[in-house]
Amino acid sequence: MKKITVIGGGNVGSTAAQRIAEKQLAQEVVLVDILEGVPQGKALDMWESAPVEGFDSAVVGANDYAATANSDIVVITAGLARKPGMSRDDLLLANTKIVKSVTEQVVTHSPNSILIVVSNPLDVMAYVAKKVSGFAKQRVIGMAGILDSARFRLFIAQELNVSVRDVQAMVLGGHGDSMVPLVRYSTVAGIPITELISAERIEALVTRARNGGIEIVNFLKTGSAYYAPSSAAVEMVEAIARNSNRVLPCSAWLEGEYGLNDVYCGVPVKLNANGIEQILELKLTDEEIAGLKKSADDVTANIKKLDI
Ligand code: NAI
Ligand code: 2OP
Repeated sequence: MKKITVIGGGNVGSTAAQRIAEKQLAQEVVLVDILEGVPQGKALDMWESAPVEGFDSAVVGANDYAATANSDIVVITAGLARKPGMSRDDLLLANTKIVKSVTEQVVTHSPNSILIVVSNPLDVMAYVAKKVSGFAKQRVIGMAGILDSARFRLFIAQELNVSVRDVQAMVLGGHGDSMVPLVRYSTVAGIPITELISAERIEALVTRARNGGIEIVNFLKTGSAYYAPSSAAVEMVEAIARNSNRVLPCSAWLEGEYGLNDVYCGVPVKLNANGIEQILELKLTDEEIAGLKKSADDVTANIKKLDI
């Protein structure tokens, strides 16, 4: 790819830019923030790691969007992050304004880009980006499920003392307290975790995954997680940049899939150079469908609060 832009040069954005450069996913990585000098300084610092890390991507920082022109992928991380006592929904109105203005500028300068939205509350911000951009639903995708699943995968691996590489898990639904970890589809080397871990312990791991974001906020106190979130966002960037048809849980605009309509919600998708190539519809139990519906209803309730 020629150019990948990351908007928001804070914790998630700068870490994502660094990972994109180190994986050499584009010839040029552009980091944009409203803070004067910050994206320029961080980008130059990252670029200066190139001789040591051995990557050939250029890393450029900017406060305006001219430098982002004709980006292939734009990752939107601009916005406020959670502090202790704040829910993701507390960020709703402040981040709507930010994501709206960012998206308007992205569309002007990179009309053919694919947008990966990270800002919270995630599923609602993906909706804002889609509505404001007018882009096709395949090209506006939210990042959450990979992060939530990664947390669940780590906790399963720790529980069984096995390599994280052998643990697969799928967390669907909105990126909020009502997310839906699919225990039935979580495996260790293909073996369902229900055969390896007691129901009581699985429930504890599910609860910890559900609270994975707040667990980090409570440690950090001044912000929220960013190492695992940036890894998750860059896994999506990589699937698109390398046209690799990865199957990953992402927040997608639903029009009837899983019985849900006009809402962003986490579902398994096939990601390639077109963005979302396909939404995979798993067979879910009534209980799982009810969980997904409840989670989607929470997103819809927040979408209704918006005036955009
Ligand atoms: P941060 O506070 O470290 O960085 C945010 C950056 O956005 C700041 O540098 C700020 O100056 C910049 N910014 C604000 N308004 C802007 C604008 N109009 N244009 C360009 N830049 C602007 O926050 P962090 O930790 O990087 O988190 C960013 C967002 O991502 C938050 O909303 C957070 O809740 C969300 N997040 C979402 C996750 C997910 O799973 N979807 C996981 C982790 C974070
Ligand atoms: C997380 O899950 C804060 O949404 C962010 O870490």
